[in-house]
Amino acid sequence: MRRKLVVGNWKMHGSRVANEPLLAAIAQGRPYACDVAVCAPFLYIAEVAVAFAGGDLRWGAQDCSVHEQGAYTGEVSAAMLAEFGCRYVIVGHSERRQYHQESDQLVADKAKAALAKGVTPIVCVGESLAQREAGQTDDVVKRQLSAVIHTLAHCAGEMVVAYEPVWAIGTGRTATPEQAQDVHALLRAQLHAATPHAAQMKILYGGSVKADNAASLFAQPDIDGGLIGGASLKANDFIAICRAAG
Ligand code: 13P
Repeated sequence: MRRKLVVGNWKMHGSRVANEPLLAAIAQGRPYACDVAVCAPFLYIAEVAVAFAGGDLRWGAQDCSVHEQGAYTGEVSAAMLAEFGCRYVIVGHSERRQYHQESDQLVADKAKAALAKGVTPIVCVGESLAQREAGQTDDVVKRQLSAVIHTLAHCAGEMVVAYEPVWAIGTGRTATPEQAQDVHALLRAQLHAATPHAAQMKILYGGSVKADNAASLFAQPDIDGGLIGGASLKANDFIAICRAAG
């Protein structure tokens, strides 16, 4: 049985004033029956590390560089994330694919750079509304995952995959549990063909997960938890979602 994982993706939200009570509340909500992590903006990672120190809560970043180090102004390396105790880094979020023109191969290279430093990449895949309506969902997510599988090769089993349909992100329009499960099963089958570890790998769902729909999503056989945007900024909502995964 795979242990569930709930990850908060704060995106570009937060402030030092707002973070403190949010992190304290999440820490006070322990113990959780699932793994729980917060992926904060780079500047706040050290603050999360202090708030979560000494427990089983985890933290991470929302992106990393493909490069190890060098003259790459504005970039943050996987080694730096590791130095600050990051367990996870989200790569290939649809907002980065869309606003920063990240290609499937760049996302795969970022996942590889993260793994090389012991940081687990949470690789996001997902189709747009137009792609879903055109019946292209399966092809799109398979293509996105395939680039990562090929680049990670024998290490592919070490990543976490997140299915995030773009049309469900921040829209309040979540995929139905059945819609999500269909894609998760497809992704798991693709992983099975690539790695002997597929049965243990976590595939998270993201896109308008809320306290009231989390349990039905997490009850699906191939949904191993969630990647939570808006609801991860409200302590009570995030904690309720973590409880739903228990
Ligand atoms: P929302 O939960 O706000 O829809 O965001 C989902 C997401 O993009 C998480 O990475």
